[in-house]
Amino acid sequence: MDSTHQLEARGTGGDLKFGRMAQRTVYLETFGCQMNELDSELVSGQLRALGYRMVNRAEGADVVLYNTCSVREHAEQKVWSRLGELKFRKLSEPNLVVGVLGCMAERDGEDLIRRMPVVDVLCGPGELDKLPMLLDNAVRTREALAAEAAEEGDGAGESEHTRARTRLRSAGQVALQGGASRRSGTLAAAQDTLEMLDLSRAVSPEDHSGSAYVRITRGCNKFCTYCVVPFTRGAEIHRPPEHIIDECKRLADAGVVEVTLLGQTVNHYRFEHGAAVTIGGVVQPQKGRSYRGGHRRDPFKNETTTTFADLLARIHEEAPGIKRLRFVTSYPRDFGDDVLEAIRDHPRICRYLHVPAQSGSNRILKMMNRGYTVEEYMEFLDRARALLHQPEIGRPLTVAGDIIVGFPTETEEDYEATAALLRRARYKNCFIFKYSPRPGTVAFDKLPDDVPDEVKRRRNNELLALQQEVSLQTSREYVGSTVDVFVQGISRREQKRQQRPACGGGGGVGLTINGRALGAAPAAVEEQTPAAEPVQLSGRTDGDLIVFFDLPAGRSAADLVGRIVPVKIREAQPLALHGDLVAGA
Ligand code: 5AD
Ligand code: SF4
Repeated sequence: MDSTHQLEARGTGGDLKFGRMAQRTVYLETFGCQMNELDSELVSGQLRALGYRMVNRAEGADVVLYNTCSVREHAEQKVWSRLGELKFRKLSEPNLVVGVLGCMAERDGEDLIRRMPVVDVLCGPGELDKLPMLLDNAVRTREALAAEAAEEGDGAGESEHTRARTRLRSAGQVALQGGASRRSGTLAAAQDTLEMLDLSRAVSPEDHSGSAYVRITRGCNKFCTYCVVPFTRGAEIHRPPEHIIDECKRLADAGVVEVTLLGQTVNHYRFEHGAAVTIGGVVQPQKGRSYRGGHRRDPFKNETTTTFADLLARIHEEAPGIKRLRFVTSYPRDFGDDVLEAIRDHPRICRYLHVPAQSGSNRILKMMNRGYTVEEYMEFLDRARALLHQPEIGRPLTVAGDIIVGFPTETEEDYEATAALLRRARYKNCFIFKYSPRPGTVAFDKLPDDVPDEVKRRRNNELLALQQEVSLQTSREYVGSTVDVFVQGISRREQKRQQRPACGGGGGVGLTINGRALGAAPAAVEEQTPAAEPVQLSGRTDGDLIVFFDLPAGRSAADLVGRIVPVKIREAQPLALHGDLVAGA
């Protein structure tokens, strides 16, 4: 799940105020979820506007930033090891600025700097709008520390040691939420400066390539006992619908075809206009209201409320340039028929749900504080499929899930119940994780991590194998049918082939989606590919299935990338379909 966000270097005009730093280069690497990817995109846009230049290698960069994830220990370990390496670099490059952004910064707080003084900037996910100021201060502090170290003599022994210590001192620039938003019951009374980060998003065509994320909700109120997110991202906050719709429209105008709405529990989205607060002409995001679950329609729906179903319908109507609208992640409880009907009634809303079950055992679900039973979860899937699974009109519903194995006290019987759920749920794919105890969570404090690692590993592998079988079965249902594919670029196989010297390919990168390079520029592809070997393109169905097809002779990849085209499926693999572009498309 970890991803690396390495933005291409792009020249920007310098801001005079920041003129001294106009040529500073920034390397930003992202770990974790889509929310982090979006945060990184927004931060990069903000830094570029201030005259920084984003580069795609840490070596040589003036500023190295890690946007971090704390959901599992593994993701944190990667960052610790990156920071360990930077320590050596800082001895010879005392001006280097190192920053830790995101969930690890918020979770570890200043302890992180005490353990790793190489870190100059700590910025929690709720404070990212303050990053430019922190970086500016850090640059100046590093310059002062470097000057101090230089003055500490150039001899060997004691003075060398003192100099190294000064060089390794942190610039100590910290912005953390520290649980403030969760403590304050009156967030509506405070200006939400973070909203400005989303509002100032750059949406020019070169910033996007067909797909984009749009945040609708920040934070989470669920407190599943294993999860750090409510602590790192704070309380659930909903953005005003006008801001979201406006962002979608601007993205559509810039050529974005597919928008994925983001939130930890998207179906909790609700904005009560009667309670809206405006500060400085900007409507403020609103704290999520808690309510007992189990409803079939948003219980607070009225003329002055925008529910999640209303939001979907409004984006569909008001931003018709968005040809595919999807959302992640859904919470299995509180998912009303109103939302399912909105999906059914609006053709550009994708029939795709990512709805984690986490376990198939009611005993474990209760210990996880998930707030639903297996029966309720399955009832939801049945209800969703009854309304939305319509392969006969070319509109199947696909569902993806998340599972945690080895949660404290999980027995073989609990695990078997999860395997049974996997068989019944028929996910198109499922992310399966080994339980990772996270300090600060209820499970960490109250429950023993008593499932041995080899048992977690075995359960993980067995479930992955089972899911492969299920995925193959669900994929096979598409063979013979024609699906609409949003073409994203040339396939990875093709990229590798392009990089082989025998093909003469240079692997030039021309296409990107969400900051990810997709492959060689189409023009280059066609020049470099022998006529006998057609170029392979890849894309996604409305249900998020990956589809590969060959570029027909005489067609140009550039004409197809970024478009939605019909592809007839001829072969299925567990996670991918292969087909042929329908003639005349
Ligand atoms: N250990 C393992 N997996 C976890 N997840 C969240 N917290 C943990 C944890 N402590 C998984 C859940 C969630 C996904 C994003 O990460 O399955 O849905
Ligand atoms: Fe974590 Fe549960 Fe919130 Fe998801 S719903 S972010 S698992 S606390």
